[in-house]
Amino acid sequence: MLEEYPKKVRLKDGAFVTLRPMTRDDEHGVYLFFNSLSEATRQFLRNDVLNRKIITAWMRELNYEKVLPIIAEYEGKIVANATLHRKTFGWGRHVGEVRVVIDCGFQGRGLGGILSDEMCRIAVAGGLKKLVARIVTAREDAIKAFESSGFESVAVLKNYVKDINQNYADIAIMVKELTPLKAEGSLRRRHA
Ligand SMILES: CC(C)(COP(=O)(O)OP(=O)(O)OC[C@H]1O[C@@H](n2cnc3c(N)ncnc32)[C@H](O)[C@@H]1OP(=O)(O)O)[C@@H](O)C(=O)NCCC(=O)NCCS
Repeated sequence: MLEEYPKKVRLKDGAFVTLRPMTRDDEHGVYLFFNSLSEATRQFLRNDVLNRKIITAWMRELNYEKVLPIIAEYEGKIVANATLHRKTFGWGRHVGEVRVVIDCGFQGRGLGGILSDEMCRIAVAGGLKKLVARIVTAREDAIKAFESSGFESVAVLKNYVKDINQNYADIAIMVKELTPLKAEGSLRRRHA
């Protein structure tokens, strides 16, 4: 699956960006990318991405089995990062979690949709059955973008997270089914 990368994709306005998995050599580029984000974009991100130590730790722990980061580059600069998180064991091992962050100058140009589709294809190829995204409900743009990619809001967790200004915010749990639901264990038993 990852053999297809790097690959060029075309945005709605005709610009081309290159998608490829993040590597340890990207540490500085990733740091610059997160530093270039506006406060509005950073406001509800899970981690303090301005902290270099966090980026360094991500790079040290890079393991595509657990977290696969696909970056988008434009003229040698990282302009987006999408990650697919998965558990390798336990009852949630068929579920992947998707996170997407896009440079303000590249938002609304189709890159979010492209990266979401990319995550779905990788998830299906990796045997995942469901994708989940956790999005602050106040980010209506992000909710709409994920709905356009086939995610449905299935629950809202009230006052669940604190933003970078320490304000509580609600989180929408958005789910996309990758294959029709069926109980594989009970089916196997029935045919045994
Ligand atoms: C949310 C985000 C990933 C969306 O990516 P994007 O590149 O801006 O989205 P796209 O241009 O691909 O648009 C995807 C769809 O959402 C819709 N959309 C995007 N922004 C919108 C807005 N402000 N209002 C309404 N719809 C919007 C588009 O019309 C498009 O729908 P379509 O496919 O039916 O045409 C991006 O804006 C972002 O990085 N936001 C900040 C970080 C964040 O909140 N991440 C989500 C948490 S994981």
